[in-house]
Amino acid sequence: MPRPSSPIRGLSRGLRLLDWLYNPFRRLDASTVYDLLSTDAVTERGLYLNLGYWRNAGSLDEASEALALLAAERARMGSTDHVLDCGFGFGDQDMLWAERFGPARITGLNITESQVRVARRRISAVGLDDRVDLRRGSATAMPIESGSVDVVIALESAFHFNTRELFFREAWRVLRPGGRLVTADIIPMPAVTGWKQRLEQRVTWGLVATRFAIPDENADGRPTYFSKLALSGFAQIRIEAIRDQVYAPLHRYLALHPEKLARLPPLTARPIRLALRFDPESVYRGLDYVLASAVKPRER
Ligand SMILES: C[S@@+](CC[C@H](N)C(=O)[O-])C[C@H]1O[C@@H](n2cnc3c(N)ncnc32)[C@H](O)[C@@H]1O
Repeated sequence: MPRPSSPIRGLSRGLRLLDWLYNPFRRLDASTVYDLLSTDAVTERGLYLNLGYWRNAGSLDEASEALALLAAERARMGSTDHVLDCGFGFGDQDMLWAERFGPARITGLNITESQVRVARRRISAVGLDDRVDLRRGSATAMPIESGSVDVVIALESAFHFNTRELFFREAWRVLRPGGRLVTADIIPMPAVTGWKQRLEQRVTWGLVATRFAIPDENADGRPTYFSKLALSGFAQIRIEAIRDQVYAPLHRYLALHPEKLARLPPLTARPIRLALRFDPESVYRGLDYVLASAVKPRER
């Protein structure tokens, strides 16, 4: 069956991008957003979709990998582990984890069908089919047997889950006693004083939440994040704020290398270019970024 001609597909995508980015009344669900974004990426080697951890990184590829490694190290990922990766994007971190930590098995769940197709092709191309099983499925209703995995990771994806609290409960269910949960996650900043800064916080969080499919129920600051993990049954909870190594360095990198945005369609690149004209402290005022970890207690 012939595919529609590319000018028509291009126009239709352009209209959908316009509607998503510039129609204030439009709220798309996460899989529609990611279908629309397709494989357009600012990375050069991989197809990571995360903002990266920039402590020692010189490019977005390095920063994205560093975030994936940080999460795996926090989870103490090892060679006997069955890892469940929730929200795997295009599977980049699964290839990285397989190479660096050699876990016995990785199962991935992702709600976005178009990403699952691309990611599975990539996993086959590097010969990892026998160890990495990527499936379409939701982190809030996991098609996974109870008590069957050692590590659950949500790498910059749990803010989308409807709801994150339901995901915590599912993660607790599928983990074996002693199993570890790790998230790299976007949450709102604690309220600051000063009306201008407060307004900036509300506007920046609101823009990100409405454009990037963050349910209102997930607008939890650090204390509520902690208590929702605890109420789901987790222990040894640790929530580390890493925002200084995420937003501002990414902003500075893109401001110094505007050519990296050339791979994005002009409609997507335009609001990013506009944001780059402002001071990062204002642009990300409402956004915190955490690395959270917790353990499912062993039965006594
Ligand atoms: C910002 S991307 C991060 C992708 C990848 N972890 C990375 O670091 O490049 C968020 C991912 O979460 C996935 N996602 C959103 N809601 C989901 C859900 N309910 N269950 C599973 N995956 C979901 C999206 O399809 C997307 O792949």
